[in-house]
Amino acid sequence: MIEQRFFRFLRERIGLDVDSVGAPMVERALRQRCVAVGATDLDDYWLRLQQSNDEQQALIEAVIVPETWFFRYPESFTALASLAHKRQAELAGARPLRLLSLPCSTGEEPYSLAMALLDAGMAPAAFLIDGMDISPSSVAKAGHAVYGRNAFRGSDLGFRERYFDALDEGHRLHDRVQQQVSLQVGNVLDPALSSRDGLYDFVFCRNLLIYFDVPTQQRVFEVLKRLLHPQGVLFIGPAEGSLLARLGMRPLGVAQSFAYVRQEGTSAPLSAPPPPPARRTMAPPVAPAYPPPNPPPPRPLRVLPMAAKPAPAHEHKHEAANEMLASIARLANAGASEQARAECQRYLGQFAPSAQVYYWLGLLSDTEGDAQQALTHYRKALYLQPQHPEALVHLAALLAAQGDLAGARRLQERAARAGREPER
Ligand SMILES: C[S@@+](CC[C@H](N)C(=O)[O-])C[C@H]1O[C@@H](n2cnc3c(N)ncnc32)[C@H](O)[C@@H]1O
Repeated sequence: MIEQRFFRFLRERIGLDVDSVGAPMVERALRQRCVAVGATDLDDYWLRLQQSNDEQQALIEAVIVPETWFFRYPESFTALASLAHKRQAELAGARPLRLLSLPCSTGEEPYSLAMALLDAGMAPAAFLIDGMDISPSSVAKAGHAVYGRNAFRGSDLGFRERYFDALDEGHRLHDRVQQQVSLQVGNVLDPALSSRDGLYDFVFCRNLLIYFDVPTQQRVFEVLKRLLHPQGVLFIGPAEGSLLARLGMRPLGVAQSFAYVRQEGTSAPLSAPPPPPARRTMAPPVAPAYPPPNPPPPRPLRVLPMAAKPAPAHEHKHEAANEMLASIARLANAGASEQARAECQRYLGQFAPSAQVYYWLGLLSDTEGDAQQALTHYRKALYLQPQHPEALVHLAALLAAQGDLAGARRLQERAARAGREPER
């Protein structure tokens, strides 16, 4: 059993909530560091940790989760492209757009921002991107800008042809994209960040808050809100929205983009303007970002007679149910939350209860900041389909945000057993 002093050190230094990554992961990191420095026991290691900044950094490196890839949550980049054009028109050339990716990890996120804006036809001089992360080794990798297979996921990889050169050891990003991004080592908890208050039109802070406890999340959200220009937009990760409504931010209404604006006195639109003509083929807005709807129960295999015969009523019903599920996904992905919700209700009025529909209802409530409703819907989804992977992951994140860490952990374990690790 690891003593609390190590957990406290990590919480104070980087905000890490040990429960979010699990004590075994921290214990593994500590064992690794003890071996690396030749510490005789944990007391000995604690002393060395106190005496050496390098060792403190090494322990931090050992516990962080640098998992990232290019164009993660593609809808957010589509939304960014159209919002950036709108913001550029408002600024009327007074200054370039300013964007922040914090944490930027190994660079995939800030470079994706740059590629999305170049693809949207923006001139290189029209925007500046800052990338910041607490991990010096991740920032160094970002500066190196050579990427292996894991950085390229999904099927839409056209950007790799346009912006990378293939090398033996991976793909190297073109200089013209690298030049758009300034990289820096930094801590989101560092008070010095306040010198940038109001500076950014767009802040991306994704997959960081899930590692923090609720008070730290609250503190970081306040920091992010201040970093944003009053007309700015904050992009977070899919499981990180439940606190924002309480902090005076509201969702922009672009499904799967997880974008928020300030509540008060903002003239920002409820939904993003239509996207500008983009050279890059992004994920089509109608493509479901989440797995396709629940498959209908398998149809019995049978040989159809040659002569066309009217399909039996139950087949029509399956088709109609599938069409409606596809339409829910289309509406939600296009940001039409109200219609998506109405379509979910229509589905439930006509067909047997479906885990996927309750999952969509949960996600719609979650995105709007209604955690209680989201909980209810996710629970119904899991009642109907106990291993529904996304419902498990999202419910776990909601429980963690509400302080029910044991409940969250149980669900994460269930999700892992279901064969899909919760996305980090
Ligand atoms: C999972 S990555 C997220 C990267 C990217 N934003 C994404 O969503 O793909 C989490 C990153 O947070 C960084 N990190 C952890 N604590 C931090 C802190 N207090 N300040 C800045 N970065 C931090 C880690 O070094 C790690 O690279």
